[in-house]
Amino acid sequence: MNVLMIASECVPYAKTGGLADVVGALPKVLRKMGHDVRVVMPLYGGIDIIRFHLKPALPMMGVWMGNTQEWCAVHEGSNDGVPVYFIEFERYFGRFGLYHDASFNDYADNPRRFGFLTRAGLQLCRDLNFTPDIVHAHDWHTALAGAYLKIWHWNDPILGKAASVLTIHNIAYQGVYPSVHLDYLGLQWGNFTPDKFEDHGNLNFLKGGIVYSDVVNTVSPTYARETRTPAGGFGLAPYLNNKGERYVGILNGAEYSQWDPERDTLIPARYSAKDLSGKAVCKRELQRRFWLEEDPDTPIVGVVSRFAAQKGLDLLAQVIEPMINAMRVQFVVLGAGDNALEQFYGSLPGRYRGKIGSYIGYSDELAHWIEAGSDFFLMPSIYEPCGLNQMYSLKYGTLPIVRATGGLDDTVVQYNEADGAGTGFKFWAADPGAIYYTTGWAVSTYFDRPAHYRKMQQTAMKQDFSWERSAKAYEELYQQAIEARP
Ligand code: ADP
Ligand code: GLC
Repeated sequence: MNVLMIASECVPYAKTGGLADVVGALPKVLRKMGHDVRVVMPLYGGIDIIRFHLKPALPMMGVWMGNTQEWCAVHEGSNDGVPVYFIEFERYFGRFGLYHDASFNDYADNPRRFGFLTRAGLQLCRDLNFTPDIVHAHDWHTALAGAYLKIWHWNDPILGKAASVLTIHNIAYQGVYPSVHLDYLGLQWGNFTPDKFEDHGNLNFLKGGIVYSDVVNTVSPTYARETRTPAGGFGLAPYLNNKGERYVGILNGAEYSQWDPERDTLIPARYSAKDLSGKAVCKRELQRRFWLEEDPDTPIVGVVSRFAAQKGLDLLAQVIEPMINAMRVQFVVLGAGDNALEQFYGSLPGRYRGKIGSYIGYSDELAHWIEAGSDFFLMPSIYEPCGLNQMYSLKYGTLPIVRATGGLDDTVVQYNEADGAGTGFKFWAADPGAIYYTTGWAVSTYFDRPAHYRKMQQTAMKQDFSWERSAKAYEELYQQAIEARP
Protein backbone atom coordinates (compact mmCIF):
# COMPACT_ATOMS: atom_id res chain seq x y z
CA MET A 1 0.00 0.00 0.00
CA ASN A 2 1.03 3.60 -0.53
CA VAL A 3 0.58 5.53 2.70
CA LEU A 4 0.94 9.25 3.30
CA MET A 5 1.22 10.26 6.95
CA ILE A 6 0.74 13.90 7.82
CA ALA A 7 1.77 14.90 11.33
CA SER A 8 2.87 17.88 13.39
CA GLU A 9 5.79 16.07 15.05
CA CYS A 10 8.14 13.18 14.35
CA VAL A 11 11.23 11.83 16.10
CA PRO A 12 14.10 12.68 15.62
CA TYR A 13 13.19 16.01 14.01
CA ALA A 14 10.65 17.63 16.34
CA LYS A 15 9.06 16.32 19.51
CA THR A 16 6.92 17.53 22.39
CA GLY A 17 5.41 14.18 23.38
CA GLY A 18 4.59 10.61 22.48
CA LEU A 19 2.99 11.55 19.15
CA ALA A 20 6.48 12.17 17.81
CA ASP A 21 7.67 8.75 18.97
CA VAL A 22 4.76 7.08 17.19
CA VAL A 23 5.18 8.97 13.90
CA GLY A 24 8.91 8.26 14.05
CA ALA A 25 8.53 4.53 14.66
CA LEU A 26 5.39 3.18 12.98
CA PRO A 27 6.34 4.09 9.37
CA LYS A 28 9.67 2.27 9.66
CA VAL A 29 7.99 -0.96 10.62
CA LEU A 30 5.28 -0.60 7.98
CA ARG A 31 7.98 -0.07 5.38
CA LYS A 32 9.70 -3.28 6.48
CA MET A 33 6.36 -4.99 5.89
CA GLY A 34 6.50 -3.79 2.29
CA HIS A 35 4.41 -0.61 2.31
CA ASP A 36 5.54 2.65 0.75
CA VAL A 37 5.00 4.97 3.71
CA ARG A 38 5.99 8.63 3.56
CA VAL A 39 5.72 11.31 6.20
CA VAL A 40 4.96 15.03 5.80
CA MET A 41 5.66 17.54 8.55
CA PRO A 42 6.57 21.23 8.95
CA LEU A 43 10.10 22.54 8.67
CA TYR A 44 10.10 24.21 12.09
CA GLY A 45 12.71 26.82 12.86
CA GLY A 46 14.53 24.39 15.15
CA ILE A 47 15.06 21.67 12.54
CA ASP A 48 18.64 21.72 11.37
CA ILE A 49 18.77 21.12 7.59
CA ILE A 50 22.49 20.32 7.66
CA ARG A 51 22.49 17.99 10.65
CA PHE A 52 19.63 15.94 9.19
CA HIS A 53 21.03 16.00 5.64
CA LEU A 54 17.81 17.42 4.20
CA LYS A 55 17.78 17.91 0.44
CA PRO A 56 15.55 20.14 -1.66
CA ALA A 57 12.60 18.16 -3.05
CA LEU A 58 10.49 20.90 -4.64
CA PRO A 59 11.72 24.48 -4.95
CA MET A 60 8.14 25.72 -5.12
CA MET A 61 4.73 24.28 -4.41
CA GLY A 62 1.44 26.17 -4.61
CA VAL A 63 -1.17 25.32 -1.96
CA TRP A 64 -4.70 26.67 -2.21
CA MET A 65 -6.09 28.01 1.05
CA GLY A 66 -9.56 29.39 0.32
CA ASN A 67 -9.03 31.91 -2.45
CA THR A 68 -5.36 32.39 -1.65
CA GLN A 69 -2.56 30.38 -3.14
CA GLU A 70 0.33 30.06 -0.69
CA TRP A 71 3.78 29.25 -2.07
CA CYS A 72 6.08 27.02 -0.06
CA ALA A 73 9.15 24.86 -0.63
CA VAL A 74 9.65 21.20 0.23
CA HIS A 75 12.74 19.46 1.61
CA GLU A 76 13.28 15.75 1.89
CA GLY A 77 15.05 13.67 4.50
CA SER A 78 15.31 10.01 5.37
CA ASN A 79 14.37 8.61 8.74
CA ASP A 80 16.10 5.22 8.55
CA GLY A 81 14.79 4.77 5.03
CA VAL A 82 11.40 6.44 5.50
CA PRO A 83 11.09 9.49 3.22
CA VAL A 84 10.13 12.50 5.32
CA TYR A 85 9.02 15.69 3.57
CA PHE A 86 9.36 19.03 5.30
CA ILE A 87 7.10 21.91 4.34
CA GLU A 88 9.08 25.13 4.43
CA PHE A 89 6.84 28.12 4.96
CA GLU A 90 8.56 30.79 7.00
CA ARG A 91 5.40 32.70 7.93
CA TYR A 92 3.89 29.69 9.72
CA PHE A 93 6.73 27.40 10.69
CA GLY A 94 9.82 29.60 11.00
CA ARG A 95 9.53 29.59 14.80
CA PHE A 96 11.19 27.46 17.44
CA GLY A 97 8.05 26.40 19.31
CA LEU A 98 5.83 23.81 17.65
CA TYR A 99 2.55 25.05 19.08
CA HIS A 100 3.36 27.90 21.44
CA ASP A 101 5.96 30.48 22.36
CA ALA A 102 8.47 30.11 25.18
CA SER A 103 5.85 31.14 27.76
CA PHE A 104 3.49 28.37 26.62
CA ASN A 105 1.08 30.81 24.93
CA ASP A 106 -0.48 29.05 21.95
CA TYR A 107 0.15 30.75 18.62
CA ALA A 108 -3.00 32.55 17.51
CA ASP A 109 -2.65 31.31 13.93
CA ASN A 110 -2.47 27.60 14.83
CA PRO A 111 -5.65 26.72 12.91
CA ARG A 112 -4.18 28.28 9.77
CA ARG A 113 -0.75 26.75 10.32
CA PHE A 114 -1.99 23.20 10.63
CA GLY A 115 -4.80 23.50 8.11
CA PHE A 116 -2.10 24.65 5.72
CA LEU A 117 0.19 21.75 6.63
CA THR A 118 -2.62 19.31 5.89
CA ARG A 119 -3.47 20.80 2.52
CA ALA A 120 0.22 21.01 1.67
CA GLY A 121 0.59 17.30 2.45
CA LEU A 122 -2.17 16.45 -0.01
CA GLN A 123 -0.86 18.83 -2.65
CA LEU A 124 2.56 17.21 -2.33
CA CYS A 125 1.13 13.88 -3.50
CA ARG A 126 0.00 15.56 -6.70
CA ASP A 127 3.29 17.36 -7.27
CA LEU A 128 5.27 14.16 -6.64
CA ASN A 129 2.86 11.95 -8.53
CA PHE A 130 2.51 9.75 -5.44
CA THR A 131 -0.87 7.99 -5.41
CA PRO A 132 -1.76 7.18 -1.81
CA ASP A 133 -4.09 4.32 -0.94
CA ILE A 134 -4.22 5.72 2.58
CA VAL A 135 -3.86 9.21 4.00
CA HIS A 136 -3.15 8.81 7.70
CA ALA A 137 -3.67 11.88 9.91
CA HIS A 138 -2.72 12.33 13.57
CA ASP A 139 -4.60 14.39 16.16
CA TRP A 140 -6.50 17.63 15.53
CA HIS A 141 -3.61 19.26 13.70
CA THR A 142 -4.03 17.18 10.58
CA ALA A 143 -7.55 15.80 11.23
CA LEU A 144 -8.94 17.80 8.30
CA ALA A 145 -7.18 15.50 5.82
CA GLY A 146 -10.21 13.19 5.63
CA ALA A 147 -12.52 16.16 5.08
CA TYR A 148 -10.33 17.69 2.35
CA LEU A 149 -10.20 14.38 0.50
CA LYS A 150 -13.98 14.13 0.48
CA ILE A 151 -14.76 17.81 -0.14
CA TRP A 152 -12.08 18.68 -2.70
CA HIS A 153 -10.33 15.65 -4.07
CA TRP A 154 -13.00 12.97 -4.56
CA ASN A 155 -12.45 12.83 -8.32
CA ASP A 156 -8.76 13.74 -8.42
CA PRO A 157 -6.64 11.22 -10.42
CA ILE A 158 -3.99 11.16 -7.69
CA LEU A 159 -6.01 11.56 -4.50
CA GLY A 160 -9.42 10.32 -5.57
CA LYS A 161 -8.90 6.74 -4.43
CA ALA A 162 -7.29 7.48 -1.08
CA ALA A 163 -9.05 6.26 2.07
CA SER A 164 -8.60 8.30 5.23
CA VAL A 165 -7.45 7.18 8.67
CA LEU A 166 -7.38 9.43 11.71
CA THR A 167 -5.47 8.48 14.86
CA ILE A 168 -6.48 10.27 18.06
CA HIS A 169 -3.56 10.49 20.47
CA ASN A 170 -5.36 12.75 22.89
CA ILE A 171 -9.01 13.68 22.66
CA ALA A 172 -8.72 16.63 25.04
CA TYR A 173 -6.96 18.66 22.35
CA GLN A 174 -9.55 19.19 19.62
CA GLY A 175 -8.49 22.35 17.80
CA VAL A 176 -11.50 24.55 18.58
CA TYR A 177 -11.34 27.98 16.92
CA PRO A 178 -13.59 30.85 15.85
CA SER A 179 -15.48 30.16 12.65
CA VAL A 180 -13.80 33.08 10.85
CA HIS A 181 -11.08 30.65 9.79
CA LEU A 182 -13.51 28.58 7.75
CA ASP A 183 -12.97 30.46 4.49
CA TYR A 184 -9.19 30.33 4.64
CA LEU A 185 -9.33 26.63 5.50
CA GLY A 186 -11.54 26.04 2.49
CA LEU A 187 -14.15 24.08 4.43
CA GLN A 188 -17.27 25.67 2.89
CA TRP A 189 -20.02 27.11 5.08
CA GLY A 190 -22.43 24.33 4.17
CA ASN A 191 -20.29 22.07 6.37
CA PHE A 192 -20.55 24.36 9.37
CA THR A 193 -23.32 22.31 10.95
CA PRO A 194 -23.53 20.50 14.32
CA ASP A 195 -23.12 17.10 12.69
CA LYS A 196 -19.84 18.18 11.07
CA PHE A 197 -17.53 21.03 12.09
CA GLU A 198 -19.69 23.27 14.25
CA ASP A 199 -19.21 23.05 18.01
CA HIS A 200 -21.09 25.56 20.19
CA GLY A 201 -20.60 28.22 17.55
CA ASN A 202 -16.93 27.41 16.95
CA LEU A 203 -15.07 25.33 14.42
CA ASN A 204 -13.85 21.97 15.79
CA PHE A 205 -11.07 20.31 13.74
CA LEU A 206 -11.13 16.96 15.48
CA LYS A 207 -14.90 16.62 15.36
CA GLY A 208 -14.94 17.26 11.59
CA GLY A 209 -12.04 14.86 11.20
CA ILE A 210 -13.87 12.10 13.05
CA VAL A 211 -17.00 12.59 10.96
CA TYR A 212 -15.19 12.66 7.62
CA SER A 213 -12.46 10.04 8.09
CA ASP A 214 -13.19 6.54 6.84
CA VAL A 215 -11.84 4.94 10.00
CA VAL A 216 -10.70 6.41 13.30
CA ASN A 217 -8.57 4.85 16.00
CA THR A 218 -6.96 5.75 19.27
CA VAL A 219 -3.85 4.41 20.93
CA SER A 220 -5.10 1.79 23.38
CA PRO A 221 -8.18 -0.43 23.72
CA THR A 222 -9.09 0.93 27.16
CA TYR A 223 -8.85 4.56 26.00
CA ALA A 224 -11.09 3.65 23.05
CA ARG A 225 -13.73 2.49 25.55
CA GLU A 226 -13.21 5.50 27.83
CA THR A 227 -13.60 8.00 25.00
CA ARG A 228 -16.93 6.46 24.05
CA THR A 229 -18.34 7.77 27.36
CA PRO A 230 -19.50 11.37 27.97
CA ALA A 231 -16.69 12.35 30.34
CA GLY A 232 -13.90 10.43 28.60
CA GLY A 233 -14.90 11.73 25.17
CA PHE A 234 -14.62 15.41 26.08
CA GLY A 235 -17.84 16.05 24.15
CA LEU A 236 -17.02 13.89 21.13
CA ALA A 237 -18.32 10.51 22.37
CA PRO A 238 -21.49 10.64 20.24
CA TYR A 239 -19.45 11.08 17.05
CA LEU A 240 -17.11 8.24 17.99
CA ASN A 241 -20.07 6.02 18.83
CA ASN A 242 -21.59 6.87 15.45
CA LYS A 243 -18.54 5.30 13.81
CA GLY A 244 -19.49 1.94 15.31
CA GLU A 245 -16.86 -0.63 14.37
CA ARG A 246 -14.95 2.04 12.50
CA TYR A 247 -13.52 3.37 15.78
CA VAL A 248 -11.01 1.06 17.46
CA GLY A 249 -8.08 1.08 19.91
CA ILE A 250 -4.60 -0.02 18.85
CA LEU A 251 -1.91 -0.05 21.48
CA ASN A 252 1.25 1.87 20.61
CA GLY A 253 4.54 0.07 20.48
CA ALA A 254 7.84 0.96 22.09
CA GLU A 255 10.85 1.62 19.91
CA TYR A 256 13.33 -0.73 21.50
CA SER A 257 16.15 0.35 19.18
CA GLN A 258 16.19 3.49 21.35
CA TRP A 259 14.65 2.31 24.61
CA ASP A 260 16.42 -0.87 25.67
CA PRO A 261 19.06 -0.98 28.43
CA GLU A 262 21.09 -3.51 26.46
CA ARG A 263 21.51 -1.10 23.53
CA ASP A 264 20.95 2.37 25.01
CA THR A 265 23.91 4.59 24.14
CA LEU A 266 22.82 7.51 26.33
CA ILE A 267 23.01 5.82 29.75
CA PRO A 268 26.13 5.45 31.92
CA ALA A 269 26.20 1.63 31.72
CA ARG A 270 24.29 -1.02 29.80
CA TYR A 271 22.56 -3.97 31.42
CA SER A 272 20.22 -6.88 30.81
CA ALA A 273 17.76 -9.00 32.78
CA LYS A 274 20.55 -11.57 33.27
CA ASP A 275 23.07 -9.09 34.58
CA LEU A 276 21.70 -6.06 36.38
CA SER A 277 25.05 -4.75 37.62
CA GLY A 278 24.91 -1.95 35.03
CA LYS A 279 21.62 -0.79 36.51
CA ALA A 280 23.35 -0.23 39.85
CA VAL A 281 25.89 1.95 38.04
CA CYS A 282 23.09 3.91 36.40
CA LYS A 283 21.48 4.41 39.80
CA ARG A 284 24.70 5.68 41.36
CA GLU A 285 25.31 8.07 38.45
CA LEU A 286 21.72 9.31 38.63
CA GLN A 287 22.14 10.02 42.33
CA ARG A 288 25.36 11.91 41.64
CA ARG A 289 23.93 13.89 38.78
CA PHE A 290 20.91 15.04 40.82
CA TRP A 291 22.87 15.64 44.05
CA LEU A 292 21.03 12.86 45.85
CA GLU A 293 22.50 10.92 48.78
CA GLU A 294 24.55 8.15 47.19
CA ASP A 295 22.89 5.11 48.61
CA PRO A 296 22.33 1.94 46.59
CA ASP A 297 19.66 0.74 49.00
CA THR A 298 17.29 3.71 48.97
CA PRO A 299 14.72 3.26 46.20
CA ILE A 300 14.39 6.04 43.62
CA VAL A 301 11.03 6.96 42.14
CA GLY A 302 11.42 8.58 38.71
CA VAL A 303 9.02 10.92 36.90
CA VAL A 304 9.39 12.10 33.28
CA SER A 305 6.41 14.03 32.06
CA ARG A 306 4.88 17.01 30.39
CA PHE A 307 3.53 19.21 33.18
CA ALA A 308 -0.05 19.17 31.91
CA ALA A 309 -3.30 18.68 33.83
CA GLN A 310 -3.67 15.25 32.22
CA LYS A 311 -0.61 13.88 34.00
CA GLY A 312 -1.81 14.18 37.63
CA LEU A 313 1.34 15.94 38.83
CA ASP A 314 -0.72 18.47 40.80
CA LEU A 315 -1.97 15.49 42.83
CA LEU A 316 1.59 14.25 43.32
CA ALA A 317 2.54 17.76 44.44
CA GLN A 318 0.17 17.38 47.40
CA VAL A 319 1.86 14.23 48.72
CA ILE A 320 5.47 14.25 47.58
CA GLU A 321 6.64 16.08 50.73
CA PRO A 322 4.67 13.83 53.13
CA MET A 323 6.15 10.82 51.30
CA ILE A 324 9.69 12.14 51.63
CA ASN A 325 9.07 12.74 55.31
CA ALA A 326 7.49 9.36 56.01
CA MET A 327 9.30 6.92 53.72
CA ARG A 328 12.88 5.99 52.90
CA VAL A 329 12.72 7.02 49.27
CA GLN A 330 14.18 9.51 46.77
CA PHE A 331 12.47 11.25 43.87
CA VAL A 332 13.81 12.47 40.53
CA VAL A 333 11.47 14.61 38.44
CA LEU A 334 12.04 15.73 34.84
CA GLY A 335 9.45 17.85 33.10
CA ALA A 336 8.24 21.18 31.81
CA GLY A 337 4.98 22.93 31.07
CA ASP A 338 2.56 24.39 33.60
CA ASN A 339 4.17 27.36 35.31
CA ALA A 340 3.03 26.66 38.86
CA LEU A 341 4.20 23.05 38.61
CA GLU A 342 7.56 24.13 37.21
CA GLN A 343 7.98 26.47 40.19
CA PHE A 344 6.95 23.78 42.64
CA TYR A 345 9.05 20.89 41.34
CA GLY A 346 11.94 23.22 40.62
CA SER A 347 12.01 24.33 44.24
CA LEU A 348 11.99 20.86 45.82
CA PRO A 349 15.70 19.96 45.54
CA GLY A 350 16.61 23.09 47.51
CA ARG A 351 14.19 22.23 50.28
CA TYR A 352 14.84 18.48 50.39
CA ARG A 353 18.56 18.28 49.82
CA GLY A 354 19.80 14.86 48.87
CA LYS A 355 16.28 13.45 48.72
CA ILE A 356 14.62 15.07 45.71
CA GLY A 357 16.24 15.95 42.40
CA SER A 358 14.54 17.80 39.57
CA TYR A 359 15.28 19.26 36.18
CA ILE A 360 12.81 21.68 34.65
CA GLY A 361 13.13 21.48 30.89
CA TYR A 362 13.37 18.97 28.12
CA SER A 363 16.22 16.48 27.99
CA ASP A 364 16.16 13.22 26.10
CA GLU A 365 19.38 12.13 27.76
CA LEU A 366 18.02 12.68 31.28
CA ALA A 367 14.83 10.83 30.34
CA HIS A 368 16.98 7.79 29.52
CA TRP A 369 19.04 8.21 32.69
CA ILE A 370 15.92 8.29 34.83
CA GLU A 371 14.42 5.22 33.15
CA ALA A 372 17.65 3.33 33.75
CA GLY A 373 18.66 4.58 37.19
CA SER A 374 15.33 4.56 39.03
CA ASP A 375 13.75 1.64 40.86
CA PHE A 376 10.17 2.79 40.24
CA PHE A 377 8.54 5.01 37.63
CA LEU A 378 5.48 7.01 38.66
CA MET A 379 2.65 8.01 36.29
CA PRO A 380 -0.39 9.23 38.25
CA SER A 381 -2.25 10.30 35.08
CA ILE A 382 -5.85 11.48 35.27
CA TYR A 383 -6.22 10.01 31.80
CA GLU A 384 -3.60 8.48 29.51
CA PRO A 385 -4.44 7.50 25.92
CA CYS A 386 -1.48 5.13 25.81
CA GLY A 387 1.59 6.37 27.61
CA LEU A 388 5.02 5.29 26.43
CA ASN A 389 7.17 5.79 29.49
CA GLN A 390 5.60 2.92 31.42
CA MET A 391 6.45 0.59 28.51
CA TYR A 392 10.01 1.93 28.47
CA SER A 393 10.32 1.54 32.23
CA LEU A 394 9.18 -2.10 32.06
CA LYS A 395 12.03 -2.76 29.64
CA TYR A 396 14.49 -1.03 32.01
CA GLY A 397 13.31 -3.12 34.98
CA THR A 398 11.99 0.04 36.62
CA LEU A 399 8.61 -0.95 38.02
CA PRO A 400 5.76 1.38 37.06
CA ILE A 401 3.41 2.84 39.64
CA VAL A 402 0.39 3.97 37.64
CA ARG A 403 -3.20 5.03 37.81
CA ALA A 404 -5.18 2.34 36.01
CA THR A 405 -6.43 4.44 33.12
CA GLY A 406 -6.20 4.11 29.33
CA GLY A 407 -3.01 2.50 28.07
CA LEU A 408 -1.53 2.39 31.57
CA ASP A 409 -4.20 -0.12 32.54
CA ASP A 410 -3.57 -2.12 29.36
CA THR A 411 0.20 -2.44 29.78
CA VAL A 412 0.85 -2.82 33.51
CA VAL A 413 -0.14 -6.00 35.38
CA GLN A 414 -1.04 -5.53 39.03
CA TYR A 415 1.35 -6.96 41.65
CA ASN A 416 0.05 -10.02 43.46
CA GLU A 417 1.36 -10.20 47.03
CA ALA A 418 0.66 -13.91 47.26
CA ASP A 419 3.24 -14.94 44.68
CA GLY A 420 5.06 -11.87 43.36
CA ALA A 421 3.36 -12.02 39.97
CA GLY A 422 2.70 -8.79 38.03
CA THR A 423 4.78 -5.98 36.62
CA GLY A 424 3.77 -2.90 38.62
CA PHE A 425 1.54 -1.17 41.11
CA LYS A 426 -1.84 0.19 40.06
CA PHE A 427 -4.39 2.42 41.74
CA TRP A 428 -7.79 3.59 40.59
CA ALA A 429 -8.78 6.68 42.58
CA ALA A 430 -7.58 9.98 41.09
CA ASP A 431 -6.59 11.44 44.44
CA PRO A 432 -3.41 12.22 46.34
CA GLY A 433 -4.08 9.55 48.98
CA ALA A 434 -4.03 6.84 46.33
CA ILE A 435 -0.62 8.04 45.11
CA TYR A 436 0.69 8.15 48.67
CA TYR A 437 -0.42 4.65 49.64
CA THR A 438 0.41 2.96 46.34
CA THR A 439 3.91 4.42 46.36
CA GLY A 440 4.13 3.28 49.98
CA TRP A 441 3.07 -0.20 48.89
CA ALA A 442 5.77 -0.25 46.19
CA VAL A 443 8.47 1.00 48.57
CA SER A 444 7.52 -1.54 51.24
CA THR A 445 7.64 -4.30 48.63
CA TYR A 446 11.18 -3.17 47.76
CA PHE A 447 12.30 -3.43 51.40
CA ASP A 448 10.13 -6.20 52.85
CA ARG A 449 9.62 -8.58 49.89
CA PRO A 450 12.82 -8.17 47.87
CA ALA A 451 12.34 -11.55 46.20
CA HIS A 452 9.02 -10.33 44.83
CA TYR A 453 10.60 -7.10 43.66
CA ARG A 454 13.26 -9.04 41.77
CA LYS A 455 10.75 -11.44 40.30
CA MET A 456 8.59 -8.55 39.04
CA GLN A 457 11.64 -6.90 37.57
CA GLN A 458 12.40 -10.05 35.56
CA THR A 459 8.79 -10.34 34.41
CA ALA A 460 8.73 -6.66 33.45
CA MET A 461 11.90 -6.86 31.38
CA LYS A 462 10.46 -9.78 29.40
CA GLN A 463 7.35 -7.84 28.31
CA ASP A 464 7.29 -7.23 24.59
CA PHE A 465 5.51 -4.16 23.28
CA SER A 466 7.48 -3.95 20.08
CA TRP A 467 5.95 -2.10 17.14
CA GLU A 468 5.65 -5.18 14.93
CA ARG A 469 2.39 -6.29 16.53
CA SER A 470 0.86 -2.81 16.48
CA ALA A 471 1.94 -2.26 12.88
CA LYS A 472 0.03 -5.43 11.88
CA ALA A 473 -3.06 -3.95 13.49
CA TYR A 474 -2.55 -0.72 11.51
CA GLU A 475 -2.20 -2.75 8.34
CA GLU A 476 -5.62 -4.28 9.06
CA LEU A 477 -7.02 -0.86 9.88
CA TYR A 478 -5.83 0.44 6.51
CA GLN A 479 -7.56 -2.48 4.81
CA GLN A 480 -10.72 -1.68 6.74
CA ALA A 481 -10.49 1.97 5.66
CA ILE A 482 -10.20 0.97 2.01
CA GLU A 483 -13.30 -1.21 2.35
CA ALA A 484 -15.20 1.46 4.28
CA ARG A 485 -14.44 4.19 1.77
CA PRO A 486 -17.63 5.15 -0.06
P1 ADP B 1 2.59 12.35 26.17
O1 ADP B 1 2.70 12.15 24.71
O2 ADP B 1 1.19 12.55 26.63
O3 ADP B 1 3.49 13.41 26.69
P2 ADP B 1 3.81 9.69 26.37
O4 ADP B 1 4.10 8.86 27.56
O5 ADP B 1 3.11 9.05 25.25
O6 ADP B 1 3.04 10.99 26.89
O7 ADP B 1 5.16 10.22 25.72
C1 ADP B 1 5.99 11.13 26.34
C2 ADP B 1 7.33 11.09 25.63
O8 ADP B 1 7.97 12.35 25.81
C3 ADP B 1 8.26 10.06 26.19
O9 ADP B 1 9.13 9.61 25.16
C4 ADP B 1 9.04 10.85 27.25
O10 ADP B 1 10.29 10.29 27.53
C5 ADP B 1 9.13 12.19 26.59
N1 ADP B 1 9.22 13.33 27.52
C6 ADP B 1 8.21 13.94 28.18
N2 ADP B 1 8.67 14.99 28.90
C7 ADP B 1 10.01 15.04 28.69
C8 ADP B 1 11.07 15.90 29.15
N3 ADP B 1 10.84 16.91 29.98
N4 ADP B 1 12.32 15.65 28.70
C9 ADP B 1 12.55 14.61 27.87
N5 ADP B 1 11.61 13.78 27.41
C10 ADP B 1 10.35 13.98 27.80
C1 GLC C 1 -0.51 11.44 23.48
C2 GLC C 1 -0.98 10.77 24.77
C3 GLC C 1 -0.10 9.63 25.19
C4 GLC C 1 0.25 8.73 24.01
C5 GLC C 1 0.87 9.57 22.91
C6 GLC C 1 1.26 8.77 21.69
O1 GLC C 1 0.40 12.43 23.69
O2 GLC C 1 -1.09 11.71 25.83
O3 GLC C 1 -0.75 8.86 26.19
O4 GLC C 1 1.14 7.72 24.40
O5 GLC C 1 -0.04 10.55 22.49
O6 GLC C 1 0.17 8.10 21.11
